Amino acid sequence: MSTYPEDLRELVDNYLDGLRFSSAPATAGLDEAMRYSLLAGGKRIRPVLALATARAIGIEPERVLPAAAAIELIHTYSLIHDDLPAMDDDELRRGMPTSHVKFGENVAILAGDGLFAEAMRLFTERQEGDPGRVLAALRELVTATGVGGMVGGQYVDVTELEGGGGGVDPDRLREMHSLKTGRLIAASVGVVLALRSLSEPETIPYRRFAEELGVLFQIVDDILDVTGSDEELGKPSGSDERHGKLTYVSAYGLDEARELASESHRKARAALSEAAAETDDLARITDFIHTRHT
Ligand code: IPE
Ligand code: IPE
Ligand code: MG
Ligand code: MG
Ligand code: MG
Repeated sequence: MSTYPEDLRELVDNYLDGLRFSSAPATAGLDEAMRYSLLAGGKRIRPVLALATARAIGIEPERVLPAAAAIELIHTYSLIHDDLPAMDDDELRRGMPTSHVKFGENVAILAGDGLFAEAMRLFTERQEGDPGRVLAALRELVTATGVGGMVGGQYVDVTELEGGGGGVDPDRLREMHSLKTGRLIAASVGVVLALRSLSEPETIPYRRFAEELGVLFQIVDDILDVTGSDEELGKPSGSDERHGKLTYVSAYGLDEARELASESHRKARAALSEAAAETDDLARITDFIHTRHT
């Protein structure tokens, strides 16, 4: 049974713990709100994936910490906004009251905005490397975050209610998952590839792997929303059903969703096996994403 690369998670956690966003008294409360959500826990799948990708392609994991941390900042911002009353209206996140419950909606919105901008600052100030490559890597990340990625996927999610009749178009469902969650997960691999001068063909297995992994991640998230408990998940289970969300479970039922997850897991592992490198950590993360309960 393979295990999650805890050594990489520890590197990420220590690095995030050292981040401060303000030393000015006027904005100390904003810094507090940003760090509250960032350090509340979380599996750190995206930054760990970035570090594992670095290891696979021969970069010291420590060297990509600023880029990896920037991804986690953006992910955390997406969670704060996802939980807002106007979005999923959830009150528990990472086992703690959500940002708007703790600090109010106005501060929660700003904490999300702040995390996004500070991610850009971290990346551009601290990520080492040839400036052209750093810029290409940053472009991967912002593209995955924007309208062609997480934000666009969240738009589809909040405007696309289930139960419109006429059945579900599997391509549309996959597309939504791929946008709202998949792109940022894929970028966790892509950003690191962009920092290194690999030939295009060398990157193909990683990109195929990353794309499939992103979809696998969200299928499992949908399943856990039905089968998990608040305690295990650190967020309210049943949130999707309460909001009539279109998910893999609402579209296919639990059994078929599980089969689709297995298929997606198989495809991700197969893509990975095409990479000409030591990909053990990436394989472990893939297994973890498939079998996780948290
Ligand atoms: C949850 O992401 C939100 C989705 C994109 C589905 P994670 O399950 O990675 O959340 P944390 O970071 O561990 O809290
Ligand atoms: C949110 O998807 C994906 C994001 C971009 C944050 P969900 O709404 O399913 O995430 P959870 O289940 O609240 O973590
Ligand atoms: Mg949501
Ligand atoms: Mg949600
Ligand atoms: Mg969910």
